[in-house]
Parts: sequence; structure tokens; C-alpha cells
Amino acid sequence: MCGIVGYVGARDCTQVLLDSLAKLEYRGYDSAGIAVLDNDVITTCKAQGRLANLEERIRQQGGIKGHCGIGHTRWATHGEPSDINSHPHGNAVVSIVHNGIIENYKTLKERLEKKGYTFISQTDTEIVAKLLDYYYNGDPIEAIRKTEARIEGSYALGILFRDFPNTIYSIRKDSPLIVAKGDGEAFIASDVPAILKYTKEYYLLESGEIAILHEGVASFMTLDGDPIEKELLVANWDMEAAEKGGYEHFMLKEIHEQPTAIKTTIAPRIVDGMPDIEECGVTLQMLKNFNNIFVVACGTAMHAGIVGKYVIEKLARVSVTVDVASEFRYRNPILSPDDLVILVSQSGETADTKEALRLSKDRGAKTLAIVNVKGSSIAREADYVLYTHAGPEISVASTKAYMVQIAVFYLIAFELAYAKGQIDEDECRRLTKELSSVPKFIDVILAQKDNCQYVASKLVNAENLLYIGRGLDYALSMEGSLKLKEISYIHSESYAAGELKHGTISLVTDQMPVIAVVTQRDLFDKTISNVKEVKARKAQTFIVTHQYINIDDDVADYKIGIPTIDDMLMPMLAVVPLQLIAYYTSVLRGNDVDKPRNLAKSVTVE
Ligand code: AGP
Ligand code: GLU
Repeated sequence: MCGIVGYVGARDCTQVLLDSLAKLEYRGYDSAGIAVLDNDVITTCKAQGRLANLEERIRQQGGIKGHCGIGHTRWATHGEPSDINSHPHGNAVVSIVHNGIIENYKTLKERLEKKGYTFISQTDTEIVAKLLDYYYNGDPIEAIRKTEARIEGSYALGILFRDFPNTIYSIRKDSPLIVAKGDGEAFIASDVPAILKYTKEYYLLESGEIAILHEGVASFMTLDGDPIEKELLVANWDMEAAEKGGYEHFMLKEIHEQPTAIKTTIAPRIVDGMPDIEECGVTLQMLKNFNNIFVVACGTAMHAGIVGKYVIEKLARVSVTVDVASEFRYRNPILSPDDLVILVSQSGETADTKEALRLSKDRGAKTLAIVNVKGSSIAREADYVLYTHAGPEISVASTKAYMVQIAVFYLIAFELAYAKGQIDEDECRRLTKELSSVPKFIDVILAQKDNCQYVASKLVNAENLLYIGRGLDYALSMEGSLKLKEISYIHSESYAAGELKHGTISLVTDQMPVIAVVTQRDLFDKTISNVKEVKARKAQTFIVTHQYINIDDDVADYKIGIPTIDDMLMPMLAVVPLQLIAYYTSVLRGNDVDKPRNLAKSVTVE
């Protein structure tokens, strides 16, 4: 949650901070602020709402001059979005931006109040600013060390001290932070897209390390003051990847990037026509010997895991349990060293997924991360990692990341099924070839997106909606429903089609449109019967199914036909119209598609 940036160098600091914050706005966008240190004076400007409000406010006050500063775009955890609660927090001596949550802020606040400090905001962050001020005695490192020893929770901090011009200090614990290196300039940022305009070289700051950016040069030390040499990494994402590239929204751009993302993700893992994920360290032999497989993730990534479950169980006959990470952590899961826990995450920083990973490791299970962001915490902490190569996903609503996550699950399922002797080599090759053909069929669907625009025009005024399906179609319905509700704000539920009549069908009226996903041909008649049941209760029905299958008018009000591939792989095609329907419905309702209400891209708090 939230984006942090910092800059020290020859450029106009305010401009760099605003440019970089714009690239991180997807991480939080309820308020923003910057603090610039120039000639022993810290000038702060903050504004509730989008970054544009902050820009306007800075303009009104005639700009802020300087070459060293910090910035923040917030996703409120403590205290409503307001000017006062916006970061940076501090006083004339010290100023900070913070990503995360200080869990013991109440105790610390009480202690500081007894020492005469008063608080103006409702944030947990202000406590850190006051604590730094309290411990500051002319030595920033000493103040940081003492403060760090007191605070509990998660944090990435960018800190300015009035007495130390052209210098930014930074520490972190469990919230991400990179330190980037330019030519005579240095940056801090929560994520790589923030710095791509200026440099591709960066260091990953680890928990318990202090970064000091002085006069454009970054150095690192432990909390005890010992210098650290860090590995310089090079981002393999281009600037264009973090731009809209002519599309109206990132979400639409990212939907269109799916064919390429699939190719980039699967190509290196197909060797002589066979799936090969051994690059991550999990050999065929190991794969075969795992007792149970757990998939643990949140939101869309968890939905990708459900598709993975259906496919692995169907093909490899290995049982897979899928858990929401926030539940898994607290249900005292039964794990053994023979179990494999697969953690799925686009950002690699989701707090619940990260904690689930740590718990799994503590209990001796082997952990495999399917992650998009290189070098992220989950990727680094897991025993094995399979990167998805989707490039940066900026839109809060995940699309291309889901697509490549399921592509990786297919590869795992094919390889596991082969290792277990459930499918022979020919079948494994055939399935892998089918998987490789998915991108071209997605292009066909994208070329017919007016269909989805039409469906969106029919849904735009709905207040409630149902998605139904059976088997893999049900797994997919969950993702379709989440996508729609998170960006259109229409309440929707996904239901196993056969379960409707056990209660939920009482909600069906002419005011409850139903989207049925019917791609699994062995279940076709069953699902169509369920569609007829809702149609009989006057629901407007929309069916996503194979192009070649005719659907009678008395069953569907509208059919979206998609190309046919192996039924097992149909989710990769059928999800595209569901994404587009959500997208166009959101656009028609005038919503901010890429930055939906109350959400943020990377959920680094519990
Ligand atoms: C996706 O549209 C959502 N915004 C959300 O559910 C997301 O998938 C979830 O928060 C998990 O994020 P991660 O993949 O970065 O771990
Ligand atoms: N907990 C802090 C706040 O509510 C920081 C939240 C964030 O990471 O944006 O201000």
C-alpha cells in the first residue's frame, strides 16, 4: 500500500518526486504529499485526493525549490484521508514518509504525550516522526536506531533531517523499498516503475539495513553501523511498460498485453515440446513425491489457484487445497515436509501471502512462489520461485497477471501429470501445444470486443449480478465476479450453477442479470438447465460459450462466442470477455477504472 519516493541530485526535486509518485499512484491514491529540504528548511505540501490536487497546491504556492526531498501517495490505514493525515509527517527538524502500519502506536503515543508531545493527525505514522525527533541529538543514525528499536509493525521510511542537507535516510521492515542509482543522483521508491524514467539500476533494501543517500550517492549500513556492500540490480522493464501507450486505461492495455505475456512466460519453460519447470529447482522427482499441494494467495491470485486446483486434480490426480492467505494463517494448517505450498502473488509483497509463506516454512513444508515482481519479498523468501513475465501491472484490477499465473499452473499440471504417469508423453505434448496456441485465440477475442461493450451497456444500471458456471467455469466465474465488482461497484456473486437452487435462486428476478460461463462441454447440458431455471424467473441471461455452439433465444438473451481449444484450457480464453465486460461496465458508469474506490494495488498490510 502507498507509494514512497525520494530524490537527491541535481534535478528539480519537486518535479522528480511528482513524476515518480505518478508512477506509484496505483499503490494508494487517497492523498499525497512531498517535503523538500533546501538550505536548512524543510518545506512540506500535502493534499487530500489525487496527485493532481497536490500538483495544483504546489503550483499555487509558487513551486518548491530544492534538490533533495521525499514524497508519498497514501492508502489510509489509520485516520481518514485528509490534508492533515497525509504524509509527510514531522516538524521543522525531521520529516518522514511511511508505508505500513505501526502496531504499537498507541503505547508509544501515550509515552510521548507524557513527555509533552502533542499530535495533530490520527495516523500511526506521526508517532514515528515524533519518536525520531525525541531521540535526535544531532546524530540521525542514532535517532533511527533508537526509533527502530521501539516501533513494531511494518514500515518503509524515507526520512529528512533539517541539519543534514542533500541527504535522505531510509529503513524498512516488511514493506518494500528500493534504492536506485543514477548518474550523480539517487532515489528511493516503493517499486521499480517510479524510477524507470531516470535509471534502471537499483538495490533492494533489506529489513534491518539503513540506506543513506547523500549528495546523489547511496550507501548502506547495518543498524550497528557496519557498512554493507549490496548487489546492484538492473530492471528489465522498459519505461513504456509503465505507460498507457495510447490506451485509455492501463487495464485495457494490460488486457491487450495478455497474448505477449503468455508467450514470454511459457516459452522458456517449454523444452522440445514438453513442459519444463526445473529451472526453479523443483525436479520431476520432487514434484512426484509431494504428498499434498496447497495453494495460498489473495483475491485474483487465489482465483488463479482455484483454476490450478481443478487442472492439477483432473490431470495429475493429486489433491490440492486452495486457501485464502488471511484464513490459512489462522486456521492452524496441517503441514508436513512432504507437502508443497504454492504461494501466488503478482506483487510478491502481499502481507497475508507473505506471512502464509513464513508459516509454511516454519512448519517444514516446501514453498514455491509464483510471482511477477522480480526480487520481491515472497520471491526471495520462498524455497523455489517461478516468475511470471507479465511486465509491470499498473491497473489495480489484475488481468494479465491472472492470465500468466494460470498459464504457469497449466505447465505445473502437465508436468506433474506426466511425472505421475497419469498422461503419456504424446498427451503431454499435445496439451503443451494447445497451451502455446492460446495467445492467437485471445487475439481473436480481443478483435471482437464490441460484444463485451454491448453486454456492458445492458449491465450498466444493474445493482446486482450473478455469475454461474460448473467446474472450471465456476472457478472462472469467481474471477469474473470479482473483476466486475471491484471496478464497476455493482454487487455480484459467483455461484456454482448447480447450487443456485439451494437458496440463492430466491434472489433471481428481472432485476438480476446472470452471466453463465459454459465452456466445459461435459457439463454443458447441466449448466444450460440451470440457465433455463433463472431465465424462467425472468433473469436476463448472457452466455459465454464456444463460438460454434448455438444457444436458443429462449435460453440466452445474448451469447458471447469464443474460439474452441481443449476444454481444460478454456478458462484462458473465457476470462477475456469477463475482463472486458467488467472494464466497459466501469467505463460506462464513469468510474476511475485503474484506481477503484477504497482499493490499492499492493496490499502490504494485514
Ligand atoms: C485483483 O484485481 C485485486 N485487486 C486483488 O484481488 C489482488 O489480486 C490481490 O490483492 C493479490 O495481490 P497480489 O497478487 O499482488 O498478491
Ligand atoms: N499507516 C499509515 C497511514 O495510515 C501509512 C499508510 C500507507 O502505507 O499508505 O497514514
